[in-house]
Amino acid sequence: MKILVLNGPNLQLLGKREPDIYGELTLDGIMNALRKRAAELDVAIDDFQSNHEGELVSMIGSAMGDYDGILINPAAYTHTSIALLDALKAVDLPAVEIHLSNTARREDFRRESLTAGACIGQVMGFGAGSYILGLQGLVDFIKQSKERNL
Ligand code: DQA
Repeated sequence: MKILVLNGPNLQLLGKREPDIYGELTLDGIMNALRKRAAELDVAIDDFQSNHEGELVSMIGSAMGDYDGILINPAAYTHTSIALLDALKAVDLPAVEIHLSNTARREDFRRESLTAGACIGQVMGFGAGSYILGLQGLVDFIKQSKERNL
């Protein structure tokens, strides 16, 4: 099984960026922990971070055939991007949306996720743990779908 992990704008600054909200871990640190968990689950992951909406849209668009699912933290594009919503809907791959912070407890404009409507589920508020929990949920979902189609 192969999962594409996408990280949106400003997540390259994790570790330095508002650590009271996002924690002290760098993005590399989070991806290393995720890779470790993925190995335990016998899953391969590729990860990609971009500050550019179009690059994320293109990555999603070319994921079909190469990946079984998408784990995505769209960051601020969560709240603004119809293009990411459409890309996630366009590819026939299960996606899980993750956030380090609990966006429901923050500013009003973070309450709405445009991208969540194209995802099988969301995990938020557990810091780096959101990535781990999101991966586990996604892998379980894919395994169950494969079993149903056997
Ligand atoms: C975030 C939450 C978003 O509202 C914010 O714009 C981010 C990070 C999170 O992981 O908590 O950049 O996606």
